[in-house]
Amino acid sequence: DKGEYRHFMLKEIHEQPRVIKATMEGRVTESRVLEQALGTEAGELLQDIRHVQIIACGTSYHAGMVARYWIEDLAGVPCSVEVASEFRYRKHVIQKDTLFLCISQSGETADTLAALRQAKQAGFRAALAICNVPGSSLVRESDLVIMTQAGPEIGVASTKAFTTQLTALLIFTLALARTNGLSKNREAEIVKALHLVPGQVNDILALDADIAEMSRRFMDKHHALFLGRGSQFPVALEGALKLKEISYIHAEAYPAGELKHGPLALVDSDMPVITVAPNNSMAEKLKSNLEEVRARGGELFVFADRAANVNPEHNTHVLQLPEVHEITAPIVYTVPLQLLSYHVAVLKGTDVDQPRNLAKSVTVE
Ligand code: M6R
Repeated sequence: DKGEYRHFMLKEIHEQPRVIKATMEGRVTESRVLEQALGTEAGELLQDIRHVQIIACGTSYHAGMVARYWIEDLAGVPCSVEVASEFRYRKHVIQKDTLFLCISQSGETADTLAALRQAKQAGFRAALAICNVPGSSLVRESDLVIMTQAGPEIGVASTKAFTTQLTALLIFTLALARTNGLSKNREAEIVKALHLVPGQVNDILALDADIAEMSRRFMDKHHALFLGRGSQFPVALEGALKLKEISYIHAEAYPAGELKHGPLALVDSDMPVITVAPNNSMAEKLKSNLEEVRARGGELFVFADRAANVNPEHNTHVLQLPEVHEITAPIVYTVPLQLLSYHVAVLKGTDVDQPRNLAKSVTVE
């Protein structure tokens, strides 16, 4: 039931504050991750883990890409991420004590399940699943499971599944990091930041009218470029995926530092460039990338932390977002991009919840 909402996608976007909270429940206190957060067997296992191999498809793959930044930064454990359809058809070197981590909303994605089944034969230390559907094949076949608490996701374009996957992945990262020397203070700082996320997402939902206004400028566009740096690069990828899936506008995402290495050639006044710019260590570098776009007449749409001081100028639309912690920023910054795609699709009159050619659950290769 869509309730008061016009589409399931919009309803699911608005559910995010609640379901992110639900995914934290029973797993974190005010300032730390609970020992039992990943189940009782996990504690000992995590101490042995020297490498994490993440496997997923689509949006879930983007969640895995964000997690790689977290796992290497906070836990200091090497992490590889690969789409399941690639992983399953190539030879790979398995490092000792590697945790195999599958991320899937449905738990029924054919390629992800095939990769897991291979992995179980291949000598990984253990298989952990992050999944939204209890009783799914992925949940049944994995050694350890962290359930996201997104509830049923009906819209084909994944929204709340992604932000709850990120929440679960951050909790997992902190549990792993603790066995690898993360200080209590740093853990407390990040857990406290995580508790602020539902409120920050609410603040973003309150900007809906501004984002709807912005979306008008995409009506006559055929292409769009999304930029992000660091852990916001996967957020840019996810933003581009949302836009292409539901509005059928061709969208690509690049790490902003790659601009000069090719995509800058595409930038002209017909190419909107969307950037996520939290106030992190990369903000200054990102601003100089924006200059490069502006100099070529590109129209810029910047979602930026107030403190990043990005000023609206000619051809630059800035939406100022609440201040967020650098680690939790990818969760929060995803939301305005979801809303942007949603509004563009509504204006274009596409079938938002059932985009052409796509299925919610990809159970065949
Ligand atoms: O159920 P899964 O998370 O395994 O699905 C993977 C992808 O098919 C899925 O994330 C897809 O990319 C989304 N519909 C994108 O919005």
